Amino acid sequence: MKRTHHCAQLRSSDIGSEVNLAGWVDSVRDHGGILFVDLRDREGVTQLMADPHANSELADRMAHLKTESVLSVSGKVVARPEDTLNPNLKTGDIEVEADEIEIFNVSDTPPFPIEDEAGDRVNEERRLTYRYLDLRRPKMQRILRLRHRTNRSIRDYFDNNDFTEVETPLLFKSTPEGAREFLVPSRTNPGQFYALVQSPQQYKQILMVAGIERYYQIARCFRDEDLRADRQPEFTQLDIEVSFIDREGMYALMEGLCRKIWKDILDLEIPMGFPRMLYADAMNRFGVDKPDTRFGLEIKDFTDTFRDSEFKVFKSTIASGGVVKAVKGDGLAEVTQGEMTRLTDAAISMGAKGLAFIKVEGAEWKSPIVKFFSEEEKAALTERLGVEEGDIIFFAAAPWEKACAILGRIRLECAELLKTRGRLEIPADRYDFLWVVDFPLMSFDEEQNRFVATHHPFTAPVIEDLSLLDSDPKAVRGQHYDLVLNGVELGGGSIRIHQPDLQKKVFEDVLDIPAEVVEQRFGYMLRAFHYGAPPHGGIAVGLDRLVSILTGTPSIRDVIAFPKTQKGQCLMSQSPTPATEKQLRDLHIATLAEE
Ligand code: AMO
Ligand code: AMP
Repeated sequence: MKRTHHCAQLRSSDIGSEVNLAGWVDSVRDHGGILFVDLRDREGVTQLMADPHANSELADRMAHLKTESVLSVSGKVVARPEDTLNPNLKTGDIEVEADEIEIFNVSDTPPFPIEDEAGDRVNEERRLTYRYLDLRRPKMQRILRLRHRTNRSIRDYFDNNDFTEVETPLLFKSTPEGAREFLVPSRTNPGQFYALVQSPQQYKQILMVAGIERYYQIARCFRDEDLRADRQPEFTQLDIEVSFIDREGMYALMEGLCRKIWKDILDLEIPMGFPRMLYADAMNRFGVDKPDTRFGLEIKDFTDTFRDSEFKVFKSTIASGGVVKAVKGDGLAEVTQGEMTRLTDAAISMGAKGLAFIKVEGAEWKSPIVKFFSEEEKAALTERLGVEEGDIIFFAAAPWEKACAILGRIRLECAELLKTRGRLEIPADRYDFLWVVDFPLMSFDEEQNRFVATHHPFTAPVIEDLSLLDSDPKAVRGQHYDLVLNGVELGGGSIRIHQPDLQKKVFEDVLDIPAEVVEQRFGYMLRAFHYGAPPHGGIAVGLDRLVSILTGTPSIRDVIAFPKTQKGQCLMSQSPTPATEKQLRDLHIATLAEE
């Protein structure tokens, strides 16, 4: 039986035609002996009908169809009776009077309904265990097809801009400078290991030395990180590298890409010239390096106000080099006890000891700490935060970065509280793109007691800051940029170091990696740079995050066909699994894990 139409195709203009359809049984209904079956394929649903007076054997078979069974049907397109027209369905004017059905496979009773809304309420573990049924839901089909269209739009854009897509290896060498890696034992090199690539960073830079000039790849990357809603151990990057380009060139290239994707996928015009924000401003005003600028609730600094405060926590924090910052929750003095506990827990999760607050209720300032505040301090808060009746002020006293992070989190929590109260509404089609720039090249890692690269060690310093590399590495800015959208870090990249001497100096003198380790890990790269490495720069965009925003889904798991759980497991195929002794022996490894 050759299919003539898909299940969203037939209209009243087809009435009278003989058609063949194929798909899955969505539902079976018996209306006073007349059998109705909704047949679903990836495009939609068509109603089939069988009248027992006309064909009792067929009606009987249809009555006993189990949902999700897969079949083909031949029959005639007929008009639906007036009272059964369904304006919600594209095919709602017609039905197919079945002549014959062929059942390819009878389905067991599915563990959950193959429907958008009912399916969304199903526990995610169950959805992932039966992912093939979950993906049968119209919503998931739409997401996968939107992802496909996004890839196509990306490929068109880079093709139109003279880029070459190059595939780079997944089996790479271990470079412990970045995220935690997945190691792969080499059977043919006993005792040696590959690492799965964290990103094609080094290969793409080598491609620039190789004269490819304009490279892109839709690349799979692997990182053995703790997983969250926006992180998977295996994810996809849109990876880009370009020779003879500066930061402005990269911004224009990426803004053009976003513009094309938003036009192709959402039919929206987004303006070029994304705003830019300095890293320090992002941290000071929003408490994060990926600010959501769709709402205010900005953080203010009160270090000067509280330098000589009676409140010892504030005073001593400032004396030891810390800061005091505050954020105001508009009209949130009425937070419930439960909400307050959640806010405090959120602050603690960011490293706070507690969450100091002041509520302004009945023209009175209420808080366990307000007795320590002078009139001048209160006046400063009132003026700079615009405090009004019904507001709540939250404080963080800590080293700068931590204080920013705590209030950055509280700011987001306040926004959520305002949203649930209907006092903050963000239109679904609002997209705040932003470049965050001027990150410090290095950050000091207290645990390791040494400088680490803020992004990665290949990022070039801002030229004017080069002279500070020896004297004050912390003050050197990197030519790094992050592409932020609605508070999500969509991508990040930089102009790279292309001078072998400077790269060696960064590894050895600034990052303090012993010369022999540098040679062993990066020697090949430094050598390549000695053979005419052009100036170059690039970026990588998290494709899963991009598609997640385009589809409005809260988790990237929803836009990945077969994602892993928080524990890094595939519930459907039940991986990972133990290896057999023979496998381990062949790979020359032993495991210490208990069986
Ligand atoms: P970076 O590490 O910032 O840069 O990664 C770029 C983008 O990849 C996405 N991303 C992830 N998405 C899902 N799950 C993960 N575990 C995950 N980790 C990262 C984010 C992020 O912004 N080679 C450099 C890029 C460059 O300099 O060109 C790199 O990988 O959206
Ligand atoms: P304490 O004097 O330690 O009991 O703290 C008094 C108030 O200040 C409590 O509400 C604490 O939650 C809060 N607090 C303590 N340390 C900090 C800090 N570093 N930043 C902001 N609030 C704090």
